[in-house]
Amino acid sequence: MERTLILVKPDGVQRCIAGEILSRLERRGLKIAGLKMLQLDTALAEKHYAVHKEKPFFNDLVKFITSGPIIAAVLEGENAIESTRQTMGATDPKKAAPGTIRADLGINMEHNLIHGSDSPENAEKEIGIFFTPGEVLTYSRDIDKWLTGS
Ligand code: RTP
Ligand code: MG
Repeated sequence: MERTLILVKPDGVQRCIAGEILSRLERRGLKIAGLKMLQLDTALAEKHYAVHKEKPFFNDLVKFITSGPIIAAVLEGENAIESTRQTMGATDPKKAAPGTIRADLGINMEHNLIHGSDSPENAEKEIGIFFTPGEVLTYSRDIDKWLTGS
């Protein structure tokens, strides 16, 4: 089983569609293994988006992601990283495929509602930024129950 980190960005929380976004991912077969609401400070936002440090949009990205509360979740399931990226849709909502979160609900490149890890290495790194090991549960397929801790 694979894990990924998603963030419902400030636009999703502000527009009260965080539930809809999480619901679409749950219906895709992913399980919520960790969940919290928080507002990022600049230092944490810069750490999370460190790969984009040299990009021209970096400052705007940090400003936007720190502009209001977000919801961070760890999703667990088969092929979780790729499934989540598919359900999110392309970065630019105008180019995203119909039926994806960003195409159906997103506004533009900045207001695109959701972040999802893009590789196993980044998923592990990003989960570690937002959650302690004890805050992430593991689902046991054997007994069909959540286990405490990870
Ligand atoms: P995310 O990291 O937020 O899940 O989005 P992503 O993988 O689809 O896109 P990524 O390339 O990682 O870019 C991160 C966020 O930066 C903003 N962006 N702006 N103006 C631009 O050319 C530009 N490119 C990217 C987007 O808000 C994107 O979600
Ligand atoms: Mg990305």
